[in-house]
Amino acid sequence: MEIKFIPSKNLKEKIQDESQLGFGQYFTDHMFIMNYQTGKGWHDPRIIPYQNINLDPSCLTFHYGQTVFEGLKAYRNQDQILLFRPDENFKRMNLSSDRLCIPRFDEELVLRGLKKLIDIERDWVPHQSDSSLYIRPFVFADEFFLGVHASNSYQFIIILSPSGPYYSSGLDPVKIYVEEKFVRAVPGGMGEAKTGGNYAVSLIGQVEAEAKGYSQVLWLDGIERKYIEEVGAMNIFFVIEDKIITPELNGSILAGITRKSVLELLRNQGANVEERRISIDEVVTAYQNGKLQEVFGTGTAAVISPVGELLYRDQKMIINDNQIGPVSQKLYDDLTDIQWGRKQGPAGWSVEV
Ligand SMILES: Cc1ncc(COP(=O)(O)O)c(C=O)c1O
Repeated sequence: MEIKFIPSKNLKEKIQDESQLGFGQYFTDHMFIMNYQTGKGWHDPRIIPYQNINLDPSCLTFHYGQTVFEGLKAYRNQDQILLFRPDENFKRMNLSSDRLCIPRFDEELVLRGLKKLIDIERDWVPHQSDSSLYIRPFVFADEFFLGVHASNSYQFIIILSPSGPYYSSGLDPVKIYVEEKFVRAVPGGMGEAKTGGNYAVSLIGQVEAEAKGYSQVLWLDGIERKYIEEVGAMNIFFVIEDKIITPELNGSILAGITRKSVLELLRNQGANVEERRISIDEVVTAYQNGKLQEVFGTGTAAVISPVGELLYRDQKMIINDNQIGPVSQKLYDDLTDIQWGRKQGPAGWSVEV
């Protein structure tokens, strides 16, 4: 399928001082869009000027949340622009779509559209180290009708946002609150899908955590509130007695691409890695016995985020003296070197635009 290009006549002024970019605040001149109609399938892929979307108030997405999204980045290595495992994002997006009864799209076509869009927007990819072009593909139901049903029409859009480091403080350890009252997802629910509802449901925990002086929430399982699931927008790892443990994929946590990459890197290095259920009590006991060496989160936004403090009930756990530990530091260095093209990663991880 041919991807048409309609150039913008009013190019925006670029942000000169890249240290002011922040996250997700600025958008480039163009966006990728295609439409779906029952009977016609996905059609008319095109790159058009970045613009508002005009929707009727009865649009299904506003009411019933039939929508999925992804998040990935493009990195600059001088004149080379690199994507990190974009095929994994589009694969996951189709899995999310399956759960939300959204029709699958052609992953090869969308990757081609993304590359073409970024090629057009090349100059928007930041130059400063730690800054990148954040990519947000999303699909939403756009049928105008108030009945609860799977929509007969959808839009697939990709927008691009030049962004600085996710945390302005860099690799400083974060403080995380273990949530016990509310849950994010339950077995059989949609926790594994990257869909707005999972983020809407987690806001209340985030508000509560912030009120207590913590920046993020660690979610426990939805049945026993005992087993560790994930953080708001990160998967979580624990280093206990030199074993690196992360909750197994159980259908209610997001299958993070950073998580998968970290596991592959660690296994290649011969590290002792375990993907299994891990309870909060096991973490507390390890902490009390002096065996909890490191805790870190993994995700596209922050790559590796060391956790300096965990609060569970009235047990405050200060981890590794609130310093980044050796496992987290090495993973951060290895992954960012690969993402920015300073080192060669495993085959297929870096995709040049
Ligand atoms: C709920 C949730 N878990 C985990 C992650 C980490 O996933 P990834 O490494 O693919 O960015 C994210 C971020 O996208 C997320 O939103």
